[in-house]
Amino acid sequence: MKGIILAGGKGTRLYPMTIAVSKQLLPIYDKPMIYYPLSVLMLAGIKEIMIISTPTDISQYEKLLGDGSKIGVKFEYKVQTEPRGLADAFILGEDFIGKDSVCLILGDNIFHGGGISIAIKEAISNKKGATIFGYPVKNPKEFGVVEFDKSMNAISIEEKPEDPKSQYAVPGLYFYDNEVINIAKNVKPSNRGEIEITAVNNEYLKRKQLKVVTLGRGMAWLDTGTPKGMNQASSFVESIQSTQGYYVACIEEIAFTQGFIDIDELNKNGEELKATDYGKYILSICEEEKIKIKGMK
Ligand code: G1P
Repeated sequence: MKGIILAGGKGTRLYPMTIAVSKQLLPIYDKPMIYYPLSVLMLAGIKEIMIISTPTDISQYEKLLGDGSKIGVKFEYKVQTEPRGLADAFILGEDFIGKDSVCLILGDNIFHGGGISIAIKEAISNKKGATIFGYPVKNPKEFGVVEFDKSMNAISIEEKPEDPKSQYAVPGLYFYDNEVINIAKNVKPSNRGEIEITAVNNEYLKRKQLKVVTLGRGMAWLDTGTPKGMNQASSFVESIQSTQGYYVACIEEIAFTQGFIDIDELNKNGEELKATDYGKYILSICEEEKIKIKGMK
């Protein structure tokens, strides 16, 4: 399975913060926003990842993430010249996806909690069609909204409806089979002139190949669409990290626990960042690991 992170857009809702800096590079507490969705793809075991951004911003992502070898993944970078909609990711990514299935995650979506790994496993086991999620929110009007019948089968999905038919928003994490490329190519642009991901999902729904998994309290989906949302997300991450002692979205740690890199590589990454608490955390994992290995001998 291939992964795509969409990190384009103008970020106008966050001006003036995003006039000169791409939204998904802004910090959420102690790391760039894109680390959070990247960590979700890595937890899904995905190692081939395409990052899509604007002509002016793409080089910043390359500077930040490089070729991926430090964390045992392979990044490709793709320019989106105009914000043509989320579904454009599959047209831009056609060669990259090849004959594979694909997971798309939006570069500003943050997920946290045990529930997300379970949901991802379920999505990956669904080989045919599409798997998306439904997460209850207070402000469904601002999202794609999924309506369910009494047996919790999805019956409609609407993009930012005036009058939402449920409280369930569709988060920016989508799993598709290879058909998604053809479907995206045939989607008609919406009133705002974009090829909407919601239109793609509705096509799968029409084909009876859409699975909607509801996510509950075991998981947090954090909003980064407003300065307040970003601030709350930062506080959330800070609070988890300082109370639990575990870092959220430490991509080097995830690379190690997923077996993408070995302890020497992890140590190298920690050394490079050792002036920061983030780097010290990575080095502390190395130390713990060495103690474990010694204990086994
Ligand atoms: C996009 C999608 C929407 C989805 C949301 C999740 O909206 O169009 O269906 O619920 O992402 O973050 P955007 O916020 O990019 O306008």
